[in-house]
Amino acid sequence: MKKILIATEKPFAAAAVQGIKKVFDEAGYDVVLLEKYAETSEFLKAVEDVDGLIIRSDKVTAEVLNAARNLKIVVRAGAGYDNIDLGTCTEKGVVAMNTPGQNSNAVAELAFGMMLYNIRKAFNGSSGTELRDKKIGIHAYGNVGKFIAAIAKGFGMHVYAYDPFVNKEDIERDDVIAMSSLEELYKTCQYISLHIPANEKTKKSVNYDLLKNMPKGATLVNTARKEVIDEEGLLKLMSERTDFNYLSDLAPDCKDEMLEKYPERIVFTAKKMGAQTSEANINAGLAAAKQIVNFFEKGDKTFQVN
Ligand code: 3PG
Repeated sequence: MKKILIATEKPFAAAAVQGIKKVFDEAGYDVVLLEKYAETSEFLKAVEDVDGLIIRSDKVTAEVLNAARNLKIVVRAGAGYDNIDLGTCTEKGVVAMNTPGQNSNAVAELAFGMMLYNIRKAFNGSSGTELRDKKIGIHAYGNVGKFIAAIAKGFGMHVYAYDPFVNKEDIERDDVIAMSSLEELYKTCQYISLHIPANEKTKKSVNYDLLKNMPKGATLVNTARKEVIDEEGLLKLMSERTDFNYLSDLAPDCKDEMLEKYPERIVFTAKKMGAQTSEANINAGLAAAKQIVNFFEKGDKTFQVN
């Protein structure tokens, strides 16, 4: 009998766990649940004898993979897989997958939640501003970027995007203005919504030089990863421009300094919560479970990332 571990330091909604268990039940697999674990040692112990693993932002390091003697597949229930050591997975013959698109709407809705919270002054009763007629630039036009575009249009915003991996025609088919360079996008748009993955090329790539040319009232919305920001450059810019706002799902490393100096120009979540909705958990969790069953039963490797 196959044994599957769901290891989520930040648990799925209960309805998602139920759904995942049902998928594995029907396949005749055993399921072990490890939630809110405080120590890596608990994860190392739980993974020892499992054949498959579902995670969220949990770190699947070489240490975890070495401990997981029977592991054949790990599925990241979500989009970003920068938390998995892909090299070691490949060395050990472990298939790594993600579940692209399954939590994208939740992430996009949070981006607008943070924007509204910021421009309506944390709902403190004072006068704010509106999104209508403002320009929003989508940095990377993937699954989340598309939802951002659709929602932004509902708010009456002018929508722009830049993505070197997506054809201009495909962007423009969605009635979004495709920009020819990143510099042009940042120069044009008061709001920038970030959707790039964190990898060796993108880490610290959103830097002072890119941000400094943003128009008045500049607002950078980061629901991607904190690692893609050059925090030193961002701090320098925020000290020079009193109109610059930074809204981020998961606080930056320089959180304390920002909280002390610019409390009115920042919004940070307590825990990464872009995908923290019941719907997103159900979508991503069920997709992960089905991908594992299809892998074992049919050899299906769709969504493999290593
Ligand atoms: C993702 O990459 O899908 C999101 O960042 C969600 O991460 P989470 O599952 O830890 O909430």
